[in-house]
Amino acid sequence: MLSFKLSALLAPFFLGSLASAALRDGRAHGNMAPSPLVPRVTAPTEPLKSANGSTLPPITTIYHFDQLIDHTNPSLGTFKQRYWHTWEWYKSGGPIIITTPGEGNADGYEGYLTNVTINGQIAQEANGATVVIEHRFYGLSNPFANLSVASLQYHTLPQATADLVYFAQTATLAMPGGDNVQPGKAPWILIGGSYAGALTAWTMASHPGVFWAGYASSAVVEAITDFWQYFEPIRQNMPANCSADVEAVITHVDQVFTNGTAAEISDLKSNWGLGSVTHLDDVAGALRNNLWDWQLLDPTTGPGSAFFNFCDALEVKSGQNAPASGWGLDNAVTAWGKYWNETYYEYLCDKADPQTCLGTYDSSEATFTNITVDNSARSWEWIVCNDVGFFQEGPPGDETAIVSRLVQPGYDERQCAYYFPEQFGNATTPAPNANATNAFYNGWDVKVDRLFIANGQRDPWRYATVSSGDVNITSTSTQPIVVGNGYHCSDLGTSAGLVDPTVLQVQQESLKYMKTWLAEWTPSTNASSFATYNSAETSNGISSSPAPAVPAVIGGKAVNAWFRQFGSN
Ligand SMILES: *[C@@H]1O[C@H](CO)[C@@H](O)[C@H](O)[C@H]1NC(C)=O
Ligand SMILES: *[C@@H]1O[C@H](CO)[C@@H](O)[C@H](O)[C@H]1NC(C)=O
Ligand SMILES: *[C@@H]1O[C@H](CO)[C@@H](O)[C@H](O)[C@H]1NC(C)=O
Ligand SMILES: *[C@@H]1O[C@H](CO)[C@@H](O)[C@H](O)[C@H]1NC(C)=O
Ligand SMILES: *[C@@H]1O[C@H](CO)[C@@H](O)[C@H](O)[C@H]1NC(C)=O
Ligand SMILES: *[C@@H]1O[C@H](CO)[C@@H](O)[C@H](O)[C@H]1NC(C)=O
Ligand SMILES: *[C@@H]1O[C@H](CO)[C@@H](O)[C@H](O)[C@H]1NC(C)=O
Ligand SMILES: *[C@@H]1O[C@H](CO)[C@@H](O)[C@H](O)[C@H]1NC(C)=O
Ligand SMILES: *[C@@H]1O[C@H](CO)[C@@H](O)[C@H](O)[C@H]1NC(C)=O
Ligand SMILES: *[C@@H]1O[C@H](CO)[C@@H](O)[C@H](O)[C@H]1NC(C)=O
Ligand SMILES: *[C@@H]1O[C@H](CO)[C@@H](O)[C@H](O)[C@H]1NC(C)=O
Repeated sequence: MLSFKLSALLAPFFLGSLASAALRDGRAHGNMAPSPLVPRVTAPTEPLKSANGSTLPPITTIYHFDQLIDHTNPSLGTFKQRYWHTWEWYKSGGPIIITTPGEGNADGYEGYLTNVTINGQIAQEANGATVVIEHRFYGLSNPFANLSVASLQYHTLPQATADLVYFAQTATLAMPGGDNVQPGKAPWILIGGSYAGALTAWTMASHPGVFWAGYASSAVVEAITDFWQYFEPIRQNMPANCSADVEAVITHVDQVFTNGTAAEISDLKSNWGLGSVTHLDDVAGALRNNLWDWQLLDPTTGPGSAFFNFCDALEVKSGQNAPASGWGLDNAVTAWGKYWNETYYEYLCDKADPQTCLGTYDSSEATFTNITVDNSARSWEWIVCNDVGFFQEGPPGDETAIVSRLVQPGYDERQCAYYFPEQFGNATTPAPNANATNAFYNGWDVKVDRLFIANGQRDPWRYATVSSGDVNITSTSTQPIVVGNGYHCSDLGTSAGLVDPTVLQVQQESLKYMKTWLAEWTPSTNASSFATYNSAETSNGISSSPAPAVPAVIGGKAVNAWFRQFGSN
């Protein structure tokens, strides 16, 4: 892909800055919200050397761990969980630094083994070894050969936290001495960004004593069903002229689609070439894509990013920038339609027709029925529909809207019923049990000793983190909260700190805390005996599911061209 190569030149580390991969990964169609996935980072290609100068195995080497399928019932056996591991900086006594990318195939995340990320920086400072482990039900780490509803009964937050614990307590790492570094014998540091950042906090909170310290970046700890606030950091930080014009267009779209005549509605759909899309909420919802592109931004992003191309298309007229108030509705509607028609539609949907790419009402489409493993959109959707929501919708009536109010939680809940009919029975709009997740893990009020929390002011996910504008969570010396001016998980990438001093500050604070906390670590004989399964985690109803019924079947058309192009790389 051309964009991939360009980004490698302009932004050597964060692929997310220009390539579409970070955003597109895990999305099944052009109207599906992006998950809070951690960006990939370009890893060094030259072979790494160990502390004694010997050449290490390539960082792309894949190791397999025999993970329990069901931590409540070990007799069900194990599956192969993939992980990556290196020991470039390791010296005996150093920490084991482990991360999971969370809701995606972990291939390509080898940068999280080296000092192009904060993980490797900590390893370099503290003589640590690094591990990247694939989350169950993503990539090729699957307990079963498919993603049917019956299989997904084992895809729960408690099973995922227990996986990390069981790995730490029982894995034999390939490095010299790697059979003798279990918690208690060596300090373990758990790092995660985004969903995996929340998982870091949840794992440490529900299994105290296993991971000595943690780092949670852009951690979405508060499950929120109607997550309209996703668009708030975007609205607040995008150019004023662009937000004014987007707001004007969205207000107009909502008026016409709600109260307009058939002819007015048809005309407006055609402005974006979407006359063939049957449902108006699919048309209005599709316009969220230009805003979702904000999630691809990083402090290292150069010119030509999708988000700023969009704003330029709306705001630059005959070489002149609009004033802060924008050019107004008429220009904005036409400019948006023209940009969408000529440039953006193909970027989003490739050669697929609009109804296939953007329609969400045909429950027989592969989007909803494809249960092939490594379909991370489906695996993430399962967590979304059961546990966390995070539906990215139009705001309540009294808030400024840059996203259509025609998309509301029912829009996504309906699709949950399409994806997982056996799970939700006859419910047409099943609501995720976000309250149970928050009740157990404490949401914004999560309290964990020696957990460093990093956030970015411009992160669209910020309102689900402890740095949300809706709460005041105090930073303490045992659970410091440090906010930079970064975007989503910016502080995990070394390169972002090199261009943004506020992000560098976050990284340096984290190194300081890790140093202090590691100095406080002492060996203990009991750390490995902590239970890998916290039965309380299920007693509150987190992903406790009805008995599985008829498994889903593979069917329908090919996944749309858009997903083929952007869905993996
Ligand atoms: C150097 O380290 C490698 C593994 O990292 C080990 O296999 C080798 O035995 C070590 N060599 C010496 C001389 O210590
Ligand atoms: C990062 O690690 C590489 C070796 O893998 C080393 O050459 C480089 O100096 C390190 N970067 C910093 C800033 O220490
Ligand atoms: C899913 O895989 C399991 C075994 O891993 C199998 O028993 C089941 O029949 C499969 N379901 C479908 C719908 O293919
Ligand atoms: C549609 O018209 C009704 C009645 O005039 C009005 O209350 C409502 O606000 C309008 N809806 C939109 C989205 O403009
Ligand atoms: C976008 O393309 C459609 C045809 O597919 C056309 O009807 C419409 O006028 C175009 N929009 C603009 C703003 O040019
Ligand atoms: C107006 O839009 C241009 C082009 O996108 C942008 O460079 C500029 O910062 C914007 N100005 C204001 C005041 O929003
Ligand atoms: C189903 O998903 C898999 C994994 O993402 C993908 O390779 C395959 O092309 C999809 N099949 C269909 C029919 O969409
Ligand atoms: C679904 O609806 C049918 C008929 O209304 C009813 O018999 C059945 O029990 C319902 N199933 C569930 C899981 O609610
Ligand atoms: C979840 O909690 C919120 C806030 O406490 C409450 O308004 C809502 O009704 C609850 N939802 C459910 C399904 O219990
Ligand atoms: C957080 O604290 C600040 C300063 O005390 C206050 O202005 C603000 O209203 C508080 N926000 C919330 C959501 O409580
Ligand atoms: C493990 O040992 C520490 C002291 O080394 C003690 O504080 C802690 O309570 C023990 N935990 C368990 C589960 O026995």
